[in-house]
Amino acid sequence: MSALVLDGAAVADATIARVADAARALGLTPGLAVVLVGSDPASQVYVGAKGRAAKLCGFHSVQHTLPETTSEAELLALIDDLNRDPAIHGILVQLPLPKAIDSSRVLEAIDPAKDVDGFHPVNVGLAASGVFERALIPCTPAGSMILLDRACELLGRKLDGLDAVIIGRSNIVGKPMAQLLLARNCTVTIAHSRTRDLPAVAARADVLVAAVGRPEMVRGDWVKPGAIVIDVGINRIPAPEKGEGKTRLVGDVAFDEAARVAGAITPVPGGVGKMTIAMLMANTLTAAARAKGLAAPSV
Ligand code: GUN
Repeated sequence: MSALVLDGAAVADATIARVADAARALGLTPGLAVVLVGSDPASQVYVGAKGRAAKLCGFHSVQHTLPETTSEAELLALIDDLNRDPAIHGILVQLPLPKAIDSSRVLEAIDPAKDVDGFHPVNVGLAASGVFERALIPCTPAGSMILLDRACELLGRKLDGLDAVIIGRSNIVGKPMAQLLLARNCTVTIAHSRTRDLPAVAARADVLVAAVGRPEMVRGDWVKPGAIVIDVGINRIPAPEKGEGKTRLVGDVAFDEAARVAGAITPVPGGVGKMTIAMLMANTLTAAARAKGLAAPSV
């Protein structure tokens, strides 16, 4: 293995500590409300981790757990309450929502100033216009950028002018990641399931971001030697070697193969996933500071 393995857990812990310090220094108690509809096991794990991190930061943290049968009107009524609640600065509705609920309507109902996921069209538009200082930026791409900056620092490289290829065009990761990389003067390609000769497109990348949700799809020979590989995937796969019925987490990148070729790579677990939660804390602090008319502290 030759690649530098980026320790997302360490960077995330340091970020969370800085967020907690900054909130204390400003005399703020940011409030985060996390809403979970239904009982998807992965969502339960993520929501639990978000609430724990908020408490660790000294935030006011509330979780609303609603049954799978919740109607769109009921969910919208809860969001309306949270929008009006002055103790709540950040609202996160965990996705995916049950099929009977129109996710886009729900996301559009959140006050853009409290939209700590950065999924509201107002925040999407601000990010697309390059107005990052007034937007809230989606947490996973924002955390990926911090790890990418760290990789550049450790490898002595500049992002400016590099070829970046993102595999995946989701609203949560692929598209906002493209905006962030473009703002940093990368030449950005968004590839996806219909891209012709995906391995060849990926192999052109100085920065390769995998966000497709397919376990170990990106192979070692898709990676340009020395490239920085950011693996956003979190996939649970069977692990019979650990015993019957056991599972393990893998990314969208075949880690061992890619790490032999890449200059730097994020592991799964312990990479981008931890950063997502840290950036949620940072966004909640930003929202709380702006609500008080203060400049958002940089963490
Ligand atoms: N589901 C998977 N990723 C996310 C995320 O970043 N935010 C929310 N709300 N739901 C998700």
